[in-house]
Amino acid sequence: MPEKHLENEHLMSEPSMPVPQGFFDRHPGKPHLSSFKQYEEMYKESIEHPEVFFAKMARENLSWSKPFTVPKVPVAAPFSANDGEPSAWFVDGELNASYNAVDRWAQKNPDKPAIIYEADEPGEGRIVTYGELLKQVCKLAQVLVNLGVKKGDTVAVYLPMIPEAIVSLMAIIRIGAVHSVVFAGFSSGSLRDRINDAHSKLVITTDESKRGSKIIETKKIVDDALKTADQVSNVIVFQRTGTKHVPWTEGRDLWWHEELAKYPSYFPPTPVNSEDPLFLLYTSGSTGKPKGIQHTTAGYLLGALLTTKYVFDVHEEDTIFTAGDVGWITGHSYVVYGPLLNGATTVVFEGTPAYPTFSRYWEIVDAHKVNQFYVAPTALRLLKRAGEKYVTPYKLDSLRALGSVGEPIAKDVWEWYNDNVGRGKAHICDTYWQTESGSHLICPLAGVTPTKPGSASFPFFGIDPAIVDPVTGKELKGNEVEGVLAVRNSWPSMARTIWGDYSRFMDTYQNPYKGFYFSGDGAARDKDGFYWILGRVDDVVNVSGHRLSTAEIEAALIEHRLVAESAVVGFPDELTGSAVAAFVSLKTKDVSNVDAIKKELILTVRKEIGPFAAPKLILLVNDLPKTRSGKIMRRILRKVLAHEEDQLGDISTLSNPDVVAHIIDVVKASR
Ligand code: PRX
Repeated sequence: MPEKHLENEHLMSEPSMPVPQGFFDRHPGKPHLSSFKQYEEMYKESIEHPEVFFAKMARENLSWSKPFTVPKVPVAAPFSANDGEPSAWFVDGELNASYNAVDRWAQKNPDKPAIIYEADEPGEGRIVTYGELLKQVCKLAQVLVNLGVKKGDTVAVYLPMIPEAIVSLMAIIRIGAVHSVVFAGFSSGSLRDRINDAHSKLVITTDESKRGSKIIETKKIVDDALKTADQVSNVIVFQRTGTKHVPWTEGRDLWWHEELAKYPSYFPPTPVNSEDPLFLLYTSGSTGKPKGIQHTTAGYLLGALLTTKYVFDVHEEDTIFTAGDVGWITGHSYVVYGPLLNGATTVVFEGTPAYPTFSRYWEIVDAHKVNQFYVAPTALRLLKRAGEKYVTPYKLDSLRALGSVGEPIAKDVWEWYNDNVGRGKAHICDTYWQTESGSHLICPLAGVTPTKPGSASFPFFGIDPAIVDPVTGKELKGNEVEGVLAVRNSWPSMARTIWGDYSRFMDTYQNPYKGFYFSGDGAARDKDGFYWILGRVDDVVNVSGHRLSTAEIEAALIEHRLVAESAVVGFPDELTGSAVAAFVSLKTKDVSNVDAIKKELILTVRKEIGPFAAPKLILLVNDLPKTRSGKIMRRILRKVLAHEEDQLGDISTLSNPDVVAHIIDVVKASR
């Protein structure tokens, strides 16, 4: 059962709010769906006849070089009863992802903006049209082919938020290769692990990158990673800052601009099978080793396309600004694929919400008349704290849908978003989903679904959620129930495997609750059938919308020469949602400079994983609470951190019960 209960549980019994009238007043045309009733009818069909529903959607919305005749196998649960294989979709069809995302729109109107690039420094951005995007994609595709990249090969992408990130993804999939984007905030060690796990032979990066006016030496990080990644034969480097000091390996490293200049501006797309892999994206799980979540072509494309279209009510004329990074799934689905597959214009923002001022998002919204804005609550909390004066001067009257993603959004933040950004005239869409789901699972549809602040509302088409009792594994039917969230059926954009580790995939998602896909989250369904996400029930923490594994941070800490043992847990943080606390016992008790050691430990995590994973709190303790079999009782650590010493339960079964009083003292002293 999730330990963290909803702060605002009483909200569940409050009535829902209708779609604001302002949404319709601001709409230049009509929303895709006319009513909640229409959603209910479509939803019913999507659950009762998924193969009919999604076949129709896939035919209407995607272009196929070879039409499919088999929409779905097998037809029942998320995983087949016999061998546990996940369902496959549109299995005999062929298509190309870049053709669907780029060519279709370039043919229709080459001058239409595909990308609005907002550089870190205001005023330094540019617009990339669909026609221009197609040319760049075709040129890079030929560079890749010439360097020996073949269909099915993986290519690592370590890039900041610049148009070339989209060009890279589209070029890779144009030739049927598989992209593996690594968030450019990851350390060289994490990058190396991901390059090696995916067997990537080529890496695309920049000379440097810039964020919040800070320079990051991206190429240097790549070089460090490649010291122990022998299979990488080439690195393509886009000149972002033009620095003179770029470490260079002749023969291996190639300049983006020099290579692209060698090729003509058209190169035909390679058709691939629906179920061929489209990309890998590494994410954290319960163990220290990150999982290469593998998505397939047609199913993923359809999920990203349909959710963008219906959840945010995106039309071809719209400009959507997803303030997420392409290094995470939100960037994949709602900066890159979703907007382009709908022929809309996507904003690629390189900077931070705080640079040069806390008005940066709102400047962008007004400058480009953004219609849909999508962000994580952590950024909203930052902006709320900064004050209304940064928002009020802006018009923000182009906005119709305001999305939230990555963590529960508290009522006060929801209201701040609604009042100050939406001005009561935009529809707030709290979208619940995951790297593994590929696209939204539970979310309102803009212009359609009534909302309750803090609830992700109802399932998207084709998602049949179940609340399961975590102890018995039985489904809890009806309303007013709480348990773990599972999905009863398969949906097109569901991940198909963990790259190279199918048994881990089954152990993580199928085996915990047979017959269901297990989400890893706790959830409740209230009296009106609204879903409320209660947070992870496993060893995953969401810090500032970044998904971290506590085991991965523990594995990093142990790299420090003085660390004997560590236990990492999440605790609530006003700004970042959750923060990381590391309880560490050292090999020696004879420590003169405690602060210096704490700093070293934080540095170790920054170096091993990346700055975003750094613990907020390091607590040096004599020992960790353990069961007689040696298992660390993290639950006790969480309770002590949450000031719930009175709810520790029976600690007499610990092998070292005395340590608890010591830990309480250490935590108190840290405040
Ligand atoms: O715990 C849930 C939380 O983020 C997890 C997925 O993280 P990741 O794969 O990195 O994808 C983040 C972007 C989709 C989920 O298991 N989460 C995501 N969206 C919400 C959420 N928790 C509450 N409300 C949400 N809207």
